[in-house]
Amino acid sequence: MKLTLSVIKADVGGYVGHASMHPDLMAKAEELLGQVKKSGLLIDYHIARVGDDLELIMTHTKGENNVAIHKMSWETFEACTEVAKKLKLYGAGQDLLADAFSGNVKGMGPGVAEMDLDERKSEPVIIYMADKTASGAWNMPLYKMFADPFNTAGLVIAEAMDGGYRFDVLDLKAGKYIQFDAPEEIYHMLAFIGSPSHYAVRAVYSRRTGEIGAVSSTQRLSLIAGRYVGKDDPVCIVRCQNQFPAVGECLEPFSMPAIVEGWMRGSHNGPLMPVSFKECNPTRFDGPPRVIAAGFQLADGRLVGPLDMFDDPAFDPTREQAMVVAEHLRRHGPFEPHRLPMDEMEYTTMPLLMERLAARWKPVEDGK
Ligand code: 13P
Ligand code: 13P
Ligand code: MG
Ligand code: MG
Repeated sequence: MKLTLSVIKADVGGYVGHASMHPDLMAKAEELLGQVKKSGLLIDYHIARVGDDLELIMTHTKGENNVAIHKMSWETFEACTEVAKKLKLYGAGQDLLADAFSGNVKGMGPGVAEMDLDERKSEPVIIYMADKTASGAWNMPLYKMFADPFNTAGLVIAEAMDGGYRFDVLDLKAGKYIQFDAPEEIYHMLAFIGSPSHYAVRAVYSRRTGEIGAVSSTQRLSLIAGRYVGKDDPVCIVRCQNQFPAVGECLEPFSMPAIVEGWMRGSHNGPLMPVSFKECNPTRFDGPPRVIAAGFQLADGRLVGPLDMFDDPAFDPTREQAMVVAEHLRRHGPFEPHRLPMDEMEYTTMPLLMERLAARWKPVEDGK
């Protein structure tokens, strides 16, 4: 069966501060998407949240970038913003950067990961959702899943995975993309994706079948707004098993709490901590950055699930390690590398400060 899996997300108001989401927002989204499902536009949906980000997980047959799906998602975020305003939640409508919907939510603030797929005999998918981090955070996990045999045993021993994967890499600043074939071109690819603030893995395809295996949201709020308004808090969809990595191979990269950008005011680096749904309320210095993983089996478009994939004591040591790293970085206070490097700070209050102090900077005297 041909269908589209869409995950569209936005921060429309935090409770309390940027820590979590008020249940009334989720109830509103549930009510509205329930109506849309009845109307027949959606086959199924699931409302999730990570920290203060509202995630609309939807299946339908309208294809990627469909106006009706995007418009309905935008209107859902608007309605939830109204609820947030009434409760005076923090940053109500934070990620809705446009005044009115204009055809596609991409470029308007929300994050979008969508894939058209031909549902297999069994279709396990994992939807990763992160808070307090930026698009590009999926680069290392996607690389490990689809290109690193030390993570994914199937690259070596599974016939269905033979042939490797094609990575679609986006230059976030220039708005260009390039495709790299793994394993032949991994060194060249790593030269770019190792810099996730500049390059983001947008999609991964099986080279053997051409099918899409993964897609991530690459929208950068700061580049859309031209200033800091909140962090991207990106999402990623990965198909598992058979011609794709096994479920456990898709979770394994998160056993190492990689350091990502986005903690406190979007201006600090911190470890990405994999947590269960109920543990995704980042409060320690507004963090550390979190990732949750919702597993589903698709059944004729029905979202069977979710299973809370990081709700496993096997990830306890990762969480402990994350807090050791977090503690070490926190001791740096306002110093890099806890604080983001200077060129990444141009979307914070730094430009204002530069302007205020501009006249006080004097040329260095000759001979000194
Ligand atoms: P089962 O034998 O439990 O189906 O697992 C197969 C597998 O590939 C696990 O990674
Ligand atoms: P969010 O991007 O999750 O809203 O967080 C913003 C922030 O400034 C946290 O300190
Ligand atoms: Mg927020
Ligand atoms: Mg957030």
